[in-house]
Amino acid sequence: MENTDTKQQKIVQMFDEIAGTYDRANRVLSMGIDIQWRKKACDETFKRYNKPIELIVDVACGTGDMMGYWSKQATKADRQIGKIMGVDPSVGMSDVGKQKFPEFEFFISEATALPLANESADIVSISYGIRNVMKRQEAFREFARVLKQGGYVVILEFTKDDKKGLFFTIKDFYLTKILPILGGLISKNKAAYEYLPNSIEGFLTASMLQKELDDAGFETEFCKSFSMDISTLVIARKR
Ligand SMILES: C[S@@+](CC[C@H](N)C(=O)[O-])C[C@H]1O[C@@H](n2cnc3c(N)ncnc32)[C@H](O)[C@@H]1O
Repeated sequence: MENTDTKQQKIVQMFDEIAGTYDRANRVLSMGIDIQWRKKACDETFKRYNKPIELIVDVACGTGDMMGYWSKQATKADRQIGKIMGVDPSVGMSDVGKQKFPEFEFFISEATALPLANESADIVSISYGIRNVMKRQEAFREFARVLKQGGYVVILEFTKDDKKGLFFTIKDFYLTKILPILGGLISKNKAAYEYLPNSIEGFLTASMLQKELDDAGFETEFCKSFSMDISTLVIARKR
């Protein structure tokens, strides 16, 4: 039986391997729907957090798209942000991100060990990343450590659901049959795109996610699932 650290290393290695094709595959597989979810995450957070924003940390930042949306939506909302930084253990993903967004800082590290002082961040976001973090509770405690009191954790993730019906059968078919083939063709790594439906199935429901956040010291203020419940946005405030 593989231990947690070995599993975690293999996941990061998998992202290193697909880093060069990640953005292209993402665009095709999500059909651009994720853009609305990302913008909504930023806008709903800005509505709630009225203090000056010194620091936004995007954990599991990958190739940096969420950081780009924080910056874009802040401009639209006329909000100033002191600094946006990204943290990810995959050197391959971060290297692509650095080329796309030279204006942001990137750090190589896991969600459980953020290179930040206590209570230094206003917002911690993690988009489609928490599913890959093996030591999730440890990561949530780490987010609580680095956030200022009243700061927000913003999570976008594919959550598990137990619903039945035609839409959900279609969604299942897409995730388990079509997505691995398309993702495999684009990345030449089918295994990586078989991992996606399996990791969703092994993940939490939206209410389980809120319960874990509550245990780590957060109060959920917004929780909504989008697009046939494929993706869930949770915004929670540090108590
Ligand atoms: C599906 S990608 C999402 C990237 C980006 N946030 C986005 O929205 O496109 C998942 C990312 O999680 C990162 N990751 C895997 N394990 C992690 C961990 N323990 N801590 C932080 N990030 C991790 C991977 O390296 C990868 O970049």
